Amino acid sequence: MITLRYKTSLLLLALALTAAAQRQVSDLRQWQFSRDRATWQPVTIPHDWAISGPFDKKWDLQRVAIEQNGETEATEKSGRSGALPWIGEGHYRTTVNLPSPLPAHAELVFDGAMSEPVVSINGQEAGRWAYGYNAFRIDATPYLRAGENTIEVDLTNVEESSRWYPGGGLYRPVELVLTPKSHIDEWLTCVRTLSINEGNAQISLSAKVINPVAGQLLKATLIAPDGSVAQTASAKVLPQGEVTFLMTVEQAQLWTPETPCLYRMNLTLQDGTDDTQLKFGSRTIQVSKEGGFQLNGVTRKLKGVCLHHDLGPLGAAINKAALIRQIVTMKAMGADAIRTSHNMPSQWQMDICDSLGMMVMAESFDMWLYPKCKNGYARFFREWADRDMENLVLRNRNHPSIVMWSIGNEIPEQWSDEGREIARHLQDICHRLDPTRPVTQGMDRAEDALKSGFAQVMDVPGFNYRVHKYENNIRQLPKGFLLGSETASTVSSRGIYKFPVVPDDNSRFASWAEGYDPKAIENADGQCSSYDVEYCPWSNLPDDDWVWQDDYPWVIGEFVWTGYDYLGEPSPYDEYWPSRSSYFGICDLAGLPKDRYFLYRSHWNHEEHTLHMLPHWTWPGREGEVTPVYVYTDYPKAELFVNGRSEGVRSKGTSRLDRYRLRWNDVRYEPGVIEVVAYDAEGREAARTRQVTAGEPTELQLVADRTTLKADGDDLAFITVSLTDKNGTFCPTADDELTFSVSGAGIYQAACNGDATSLEPFTQPQMKLFSGQLVVIVRTTTTPGDITLTVTDTPRGLTKRLTIKSE
Ligand code: GAL
Repeated sequence: MITLRYKTSLLLLALALTAAAQRQVSDLRQWQFSRDRATWQPVTIPHDWAISGPFDKKWDLQRVAIEQNGETEATEKSGRSGALPWIGEGHYRTTVNLPSPLPAHAELVFDGAMSEPVVSINGQEAGRWAYGYNAFRIDATPYLRAGENTIEVDLTNVEESSRWYPGGGLYRPVELVLTPKSHIDEWLTCVRTLSINEGNAQISLSAKVINPVAGQLLKATLIAPDGSVAQTASAKVLPQGEVTFLMTVEQAQLWTPETPCLYRMNLTLQDGTDDTQLKFGSRTIQVSKEGGFQLNGVTRKLKGVCLHHDLGPLGAAINKAALIRQIVTMKAMGADAIRTSHNMPSQWQMDICDSLGMMVMAESFDMWLYPKCKNGYARFFREWADRDMENLVLRNRNHPSIVMWSIGNEIPEQWSDEGREIARHLQDICHRLDPTRPVTQGMDRAEDALKSGFAQVMDVPGFNYRVHKYENNIRQLPKGFLLGSETASTVSSRGIYKFPVVPDDNSRFASWAEGYDPKAIENADGQCSSYDVEYCPWSNLPDDDWVWQDDYPWVIGEFVWTGYDYLGEPSPYDEYWPSRSSYFGICDLAGLPKDRYFLYRSHWNHEEHTLHMLPHWTWPGREGEVTPVYVYTDYPKAELFVNGRSEGVRSKGTSRLDRYRLRWNDVRYEPGVIEVVAYDAEGREAARTRQVTAGEPTELQLVADRTTLKADGDDLAFITVSLTDKNGTFCPTADDELTFSVSGAGIYQAACNGDATSLEPFTQPQMKLFSGQLVVIVRTTTTPGDITLTVTDTPRGLTKRLTIKSE
């Protein structure tokens, strides 16, 4: 839900309120922060107190058995939640000046606070929440006074409360919303498309006016994407404050990922007391045996990725530029959906998905009553679950991007009658507040969930992994379809290749698995191969999922684990220090694409061709050794040349690794050039690409994702830094330590090299290259001007500068 926001500084806020009563929304950005209430420092929120580290295994050293991975005996886990100092207390304070007389109604809206926030105003507790991921609002009216007001938020993160890095602090925005006595409640107001017939959309609006006045009228004006008025209507506010009306929009411009058309709905109370604006995208969703998943009546398979909430080196603190970069990169790969695993999304992220065109499965919980980690959400479930579910739906139901709610992930009580009834109950909450969207959850114990009826309850039965069970599952599902709610969990490290190249489920690292080898972890290097043949004992390869997605119409789509690496959960190296972030990402923690990105792109992106080859071709010492070459392409066949010699033509086949990849398994390494020529279905040359052996590094390369930023103090540029030889050939194994400095109208924010075992803090202006690359993040200030990043490689005596604009 988006409102017309009067972005005011606190000073202006005080002035504005002396004018006629009107809705005022202020972002509360500037706070004082303390870990111990003794020393305070100024911070701007969104803020994550733990992301600057230092990394240390002591922060969250656990002796546990990860039951959902199949473990039965406790072992030591070091980087499970990111090895960053998120556990403990944090306190935030700010002051707000208000005029006299005070506005009639005041609300504090938190988009999430990590975690267990207790909110006090002028020394009195005004409200609290438990779950760190949910949005909540607090009625501040009784606690505020004219003049200076102090708002304090106390947060507590207890140990063993998360399976991944949760972050700590006010990591999402906080708003103060001041309204007149009679006002529109945005969370209780929603606009929906009921049907679309021959291009005409039937729309319903139901609004809620708090403290309605007798005879009040609500006027609605629908503004089309081009800014013209598409429709107007008005209706009487009923005595309880309810207002409902229907509108028909002729030849509505429909919202899809490809055409993310957004309307706006202006709502005005005609006695002049309040107005607000909702965003609206016209589209319908259906899921059925006959049509599978349908958007606007058109069947499409969900090509989704799961995303954790952290933004790598920025931690949990959300940032629009970083969120946009994630969505843009996933869209370019061909993805059309994300799953906000395993918790409530931020408003900024949903706004971005609305406007860029990305469908969303908005999730809620990773556990209910049965704890997956000792102090997780299970502590709160009985008291808080209904309120949490309600807030997820009420806060988010006006986002056209959201196409499905999820009530949980791998809930342990799938086997029980109680579990089934909780599933029904949570799904009913979604239906009551939003009859237009189906409800799902990700199940990992198919037999149990089907036996207890847990799976059959769901609008959309979602199954995590174990594709070989899909066929048995579908037989027991009267609905006649299922969703791959979580797929793949293939693991890789960008730019790392291991030999020999054989599919590997990493069971030697899993104490509970057949094939476990206690010595394996001692000999490990904390990296996974980018030949994309490694996975975990419970998971599989992208190719394994696609067979089901492509061959069975009753499989309605998938959500790959995960679009990006995230902090924590370093499987298969849960017991290997210093692994502290995941290997599952299609992109690494810095947001750089791994080879796997191009495998998905070759299969998902139907707009552009893909031709990508691996590995790199700089292998001093491997001369004469078998070094397989893989090609990810949408073309049906290709020919490989090593120093001009043909290694033969390969065509897509039928075996596990040949249906979606082209492979030359017997190539022997020799320095020089490897080139692949792709042929179309008629056998004509369609494209070619090459890899060249690199010489000594002589040059730093700096490439910014954007070269003109906004001088708003929030905007970010992501600058990829790499080393090349004198011919401009990328040096794929360089690991030089670089230093960074930023001058002009920007500041250094962070760097990340995507190495899951690196203990160099993101916020220090120095870092080693990993597989020849890293990303430096530069932030604007509020002053326009040039920003210059200087990168220095001291041992080699290299310096490179890049200047971008902030305006
Ligand atoms: C799933 C789980 C995810 C993540 C993943 C790793 O079982 O739902 O949260 O842990 O495994 O493969």
